[in-house]
Amino acid sequence: MRLDVVTIFPEYLDPLNVSLVGKARARGRLDVHIHDLREWTYDRHNTVDDTPYGGGPGMVMKTEPWGDALDQVLADGYEAGAHGPALVVPTPSGRPFTQALAVELSERPWLVFTPARYEGIDRRVIDEYATRLPVYEVSIGDYVLAGGEAAVLVVTEAVARLLPGVLGNAESHRDDSFAPGAMANLLEGPVYTKPPEWRGREIPDVLLSGHHGKIARWRRDEAFRRTAANRPDLIERCDPASFDKKDRETLSILGWAPEPGGRFWRRVEGVEE
Ligand code: ADE
Repeated sequence: MRLDVVTIFPEYLDPLNVSLVGKARARGRLDVHIHDLREWTYDRHNTVDDTPYGGGPGMVMKTEPWGDALDQVLADGYEAGAHGPALVVPTPSGRPFTQALAVELSERPWLVFTPARYEGIDRRVIDEYATRLPVYEVSIGDYVLAGGEAAVLVVTEAVARLLPGVLGNAESHRDDSFAPGAMANLLEGPVYTKPPEWRGREIPDVLLSGHHGKIARWRRDEAFRRTAANRPDLIERCDPASFDKKDRETLSILGWAPEPGGRFWRRVEGVEE
């Protein structure tokens, strides 16, 4: 996969050299190119922003540097043999970045990121490139960052670990919270490793039992427990047809009950977690 990032803070992307993403680059699974947007400015002050039409606070990133930068980055990528680019525009006004979107992006051969500072990029830039390539405007959460660079790191890490040959164990992301499949819509429960006792704290006996069925059951119960506590909205959205008898029992103990339509709602506030 090829990644291009156009930014006014290239050094902000230095973490792409370490850990999993760094290894993916070293192994040739990721071909990362960081570009300084100011290289496409032609005035003495390397201006990339200007005041917003219609007034209001903050500054807006100008069309020309972004247009020239993206034209060149796309042309260079094509020349280097890349194909199928998609534009990824981090913005708090974008669609929520989810595991499903990470999977979709991981299937594309070439992502071009446009992290913006200030109040964002002049809309015409996004509209212009949307006529040529798929554009994903993504938000990594309901909060406002000072710029999109941290979002690029987040999206890149979520996408890179899905690329074949990047995670050591191909099964590792099968049980991820939010992964499509059996545990879909539940958060992962707690995990433990050696030693079996630490500061007087033991690990749950079932994990030492060697009984795969019981371990799977325990993990599912714990997943319900954690999801009910931290993300009740995920339980409410679950298709009740995916709950077995034991799931229903666990939910009932946690204070949930089915409504006439079958979906589960929290019956009592503040019961056992
Ligand atoms: N830029 C500023 N805030 C952001 C957010 N929450 N997600 C993506 N990009 C952003």
